Amino acid sequence: MKALILSGGKGTRLRPLTFTLAKQLIPVANRPILGYVLDQVASAGIKEAGVIIAPETGQYVKDYVRDGSEWGMAVEYILQEPLGLAHAVKQARPFLGRSNFIMCLGDNLQGKGVTDLIKRFEKEKLDCLILLKEVPDPQRFGIAVLDAKGEVIKLIEKPKEPPTNLAVVGTYVFSPKVHLAVDRIKPSWRNELEITDAIQEMVNMGFKVKAEVLDSWWLDTGKKDDILTANQIILDQYLKGEVLGTIEESEIKGSVRVVPGARVTKSKIQGPCIIGKGAVVENSFVGPYTSIGEGSQVINSGIENCILLEFSMVKDVAHLEDSLLGKHSLISKNGKGRSVRAHIGDYSEVEV
Ligand code: G1P
Repeated sequence: MKALILSGGKGTRLRPLTFTLAKQLIPVANRPILGYVLDQVASAGIKEAGVIIAPETGQYVKDYVRDGSEWGMAVEYILQEPLGLAHAVKQARPFLGRSNFIMCLGDNLQGKGVTDLIKRFEKEKLDCLILLKEVPDPQRFGIAVLDAKGEVIKLIEKPKEPPTNLAVVGTYVFSPKVHLAVDRIKPSWRNELEITDAIQEMVNMGFKVKAEVLDSWWLDTGKKDDILTANQIILDQYLKGEVLGTIEESEIKGSVRVVPGARVTKSKIQGPCIIGKGAVVENSFVGPYTSIGEGSQVINSGIENCILLEFSMVKDVAHLEDSLLGKHSLISKNGKGRSVRAHIGDYSEVEV
C-alpha cells in the first residue's frame, strides 16, 4: 500500500493567504493541516508517499515535508497543473505502479484515521473504498447515492440539487483498477478530471466499490470559517496544555500551551490556546480557541477564536474574534476615533 497525498491546487477560496502559502500549509494549532494528514498515513504503517504539488506553491510544500523522514516515509514529489483529482492519479502513475494506494487530500482531515479503512479494503479485496459524511451543505461536495444494502450506485460532483446529504470525504482507497476508469472519463464542466466520475466509472465497470459513513468529525479546510473550525477541533483533540514559556503576573486557565521562548505578561489566557515560539502577549485577554503563531504579538487587546500566523500583531484592539490573520499582518487602533483605517492586500476581507 502506497499513499498519494494531494497538495496541489490554486487555493483560490483561501486568498489572500494562498498567494504566499499552499492551502495545505495553513496552520491549525500552529501546525500545517498537512502535517496531521501525514501523521495519519504514517501511523497506518505506510512507508512510501507520492506528494502532488502545484507549480505555484510546490516549493512551500517541499520546504515543509522535505524527504518525509519526520514521518518515517520516503517521499516523491509529483508536479501537477490543477486539472482535477483524477488527473493527479494519472500523473502519479509512474510512482504508483501496480500498487494499491490510499489517496488523501492534504487540506482534509477526519477523526477516524486511515488504518481501519485500509484493513477493510484489504480484507474484502475491494477496488475502491470511499468515506462519506452527512453534511448540511451537500452542493459544495461530491455526493453519493447508496442502495438499501449500502452499496454505492451513483456519485455526482457538486450537484445543484443533491439527492442525498452524503458528501465524499477526501480519503479514498484504490486498487490499480482505478487507472482503467480514469482513462475512460472526460473533463467536467470545470475542466477537471473528477475523481467522483472515475469512481462512478468503476461502479459502471462492475468493480468492487464500497463506502463507509464516517461517524467522527471531518474538516475540509476550504474556507476561512472551516479553518477556524479546524483550529477548534485540533485544539480540543490534540493540544497538550503545558506552560514552557515565561509567565509574568498573569492568569492561565484551561488547556494552554505556551511554547518555550513565548512570553505572557499581565494577561489572562483562557484555553484551549497555543502561544508559539517567541510570541508576546502583554496586557491582554486571549480567549478560547486561539492559536498565536511564532513571533506574533498581542498587546493591550482582547482576542478570541482567532488564528494569528507568524509575526502578526494585534495592538490596542478591544475585541477581535473569529479572525484569521496572515503572516506579518497588523491590526491596531489608532487614536480615539471610530473610523477604521486599512492597508489591505488583494482578496482580503474585513467585517466591521
Ligand atoms: C473535492 C472532490 C469532492 C470532495 C471534496 C472533499 O472537491 O472533487 O468530490 O467531496 O474534494 O473536500 P474540490 O475541493 O476539488 O472542490
